[in-house]
Amino acid sequence: MVEAVADIGLIGLAVMGQNLILNMNDHGFVVCAYNRTTSKVDSFLENEAKGTNIVGAHSVEELCAKLKRPRKVMLLVKAGSAVDAFIDQLLPFLEKGDIIIDGGNSHFPDSIRRTKELEEKGILFVGSGVSGGEEGARFGPSLMPGGNPAAWESIKPIFQSIAAKAPDGAACCDWVGETGAGHYVKMVHNGIEYGDMQLITEVYQIMLEGLGLTHDEMAEVFAEWNKGELDSFLIEITRDILKYKDTDGEPLVTKIRDTAGQKGTGKWTGIDSLDRGIPVTLIGEAVYSRCLSSLKDERTRASKILKGPSPKFSGDKKAFIAQLGQALYAAKIVSYAQGYMLMRQAAKDYDWKLNNAGIALMWRGGCIIRSAFLGKIRDAYNNNPELENLLFDSFFADATAKAQDAWRNVVAQAVVMGIPTPALSTALNFYDGLRHEMLPANLLQAQRDYFGAHTYERLDAPGKWVHTNWTGRGGNVSASTYDA
Ligand code: 6PG
Repeated sequence: MVEAVADIGLIGLAVMGQNLILNMNDHGFVVCAYNRTTSKVDSFLENEAKGTNIVGAHSVEELCAKLKRPRKVMLLVKAGSAVDAFIDQLLPFLEKGDIIIDGGNSHFPDSIRRTKELEEKGILFVGSGVSGGEEGARFGPSLMPGGNPAAWESIKPIFQSIAAKAPDGAACCDWVGETGAGHYVKMVHNGIEYGDMQLITEVYQIMLEGLGLTHDEMAEVFAEWNKGELDSFLIEITRDILKYKDTDGEPLVTKIRDTAGQKGTGKWTGIDSLDRGIPVTLIGEAVYSRCLSSLKDERTRASKILKGPSPKFSGDKKAFIAQLGQALYAAKIVSYAQGYMLMRQAAKDYDWKLNNAGIALMWRGGCIIRSAFLGKIRDAYNNNPELENLLFDSFFADATAKAQDAWRNVVAQAVVMGIPTPALSTALNFYDGLRHEMLPANLLQAQRDYFGAHTYERLDAPGKWVHTNWTGRGGNVSASTYDA
């Protein structure tokens, strides 16, 4: 009989899986490794895992036999049908109370479905966001587990010990919420990642085209920014990327084809925001910007047809660079506020009790969007867990107020120079829209009623929907009112 020696099993020995196993081993857990192509198990045990307590299995049955009860099996396989296929293979060898954890970038509706389907079979499902790339997996990722809450006590010791630690020592991992909440929060994380990256590329283009800075000069700017309120992983790696030279001494980044790839998690966030009616405009623009970048051939033709101004800045460059930093900071605040608005709505829709401060803590270290700034978001939600909007917190309200002159000037100058700033400017437009008690949607409602008898609500009679016969030619019959 096979002895149950392992604390957890892990399926999928690509680099993320291998590194998570090694990380768990470092923290004193015995891991049983399995991979569909079993030769990978052997080579892992003979190489990377040599001299560790890691054990291997050559079948799903053997893997399950080697696990202590309740069994915990973590999947790090391609999101989609592969996850369902492995769940089906595991089920005959699991018992009630055993736990399946999906650590891939799964779409949250799949995690909602899997939690429910497995609950009916007595199996506890966890869908966990894992962020931080290869290095994070090896030395401390940000982990965002959600699913069946009954699983949390059993996996908590493993998850919290292998997770990254915030500067105050707190683990960047906590229970996110029920069913698909973990993967939902990871999806929003990725959307915010798209937004942060887009903002950085916009200030890069302004410094490059508008200010004519060299890559080394820009690296200096990012190095400075990384010492202040913009201190973050993405600013730090941008500094290093800008400095990096190709073999001929030229900055390598200038030789990279300007078409952005994407695996789809930013798009999911954008689509989800449209479905819920929450204006997550910055992430939307970040996704569209990647789409526009990939139309390289059409842009090349357009560059020869469409006219624009010459992108040359005249003025105090040093002062403008400081303003760029402020614009970046303010737009980033808006992006996180939008992300939190979306999570708030999803929590209402699915009856999740999301811990907003906890989410900021999970993102504080280990993940791609890690930054000092997330400590401020955690403080805001700790001060007021019911905070309606991040921008209403006094720290963030003051920060945007302080930055806004610079932010407006940067967007205005970019417009004059003809340099695109979709994310910087949509954030400013959102900010201005949000702070307007009155928007011109009164006129829009009148138009809808004019051409389609869609009715409108009078300010002096809330809740009363009326139709006006605007032309005298239409009838008094109105269409029913409805909202998408
Ligand atoms: C992370 C990242 C990761 C993501 C890649 C690529 O948190 O470690 O978000 O999960 O898949 O960064 O994403 P795109 O290919 O969509 O840019």
